[in-house]
Amino acid sequence: MAIRPIVQHTDNFIRKVSKPVKVFDEKLWELLDDMWETLDDRIGSGLSAVQVGVLKRVFILNINNMKIEFVNPVITKKSGEQYHKEGCLSVNLPFDYVKRPKQVTVVAYDRFGNKFTLTCEEWTAVCVCHETDHLDGKLYIDQICVPPKGMAEDD
Ligand code: NI
Repeated sequence: MAIRPIVQHTDNFIRKVSKPVKVFDEKLWELLDDMWETLDDRIGSGLSAVQVGVLKRVFILNINNMKIEFVNPVITKKSGEQYHKEGCLSVNLPFDYVKRPKQVTVVAYDRFGNKFTLTCEEWTAVCVCHETDHLDGKLYIDQICVPPKGMAEDD
């Protein structure tokens, strides 16, 4: 395992669209293991493969020590709205508000190619959206907004 350098938003590579994983092999497992080591070395809720320079549709989440790997994730359902301040290991700028669905359902595969469905809300839903955006070259800084009255974290 190895800690990999994190691509910054000033590098155009971060804007590239990642490609679906076709083979669930040791190369994928090594990537995932390195991503865990890289994320565990930093303070963050998630990390996508593009952030370590690999254009594969893969991300990991570590929320309250619940660790999940997502391969080829697709958000199949969204409902409601919420506003949280987001940051990113690829963006060295202040955290800021983004509008996200309150609840999302995501269909993805684990590292062995087993399909699973996860419905989540609150911060986990924010992170699933943030990381899925990375796979399409999108960053939270593209989507900064002013929350409506009563919807901000500190209202
Ligand atoms: Ni990010």
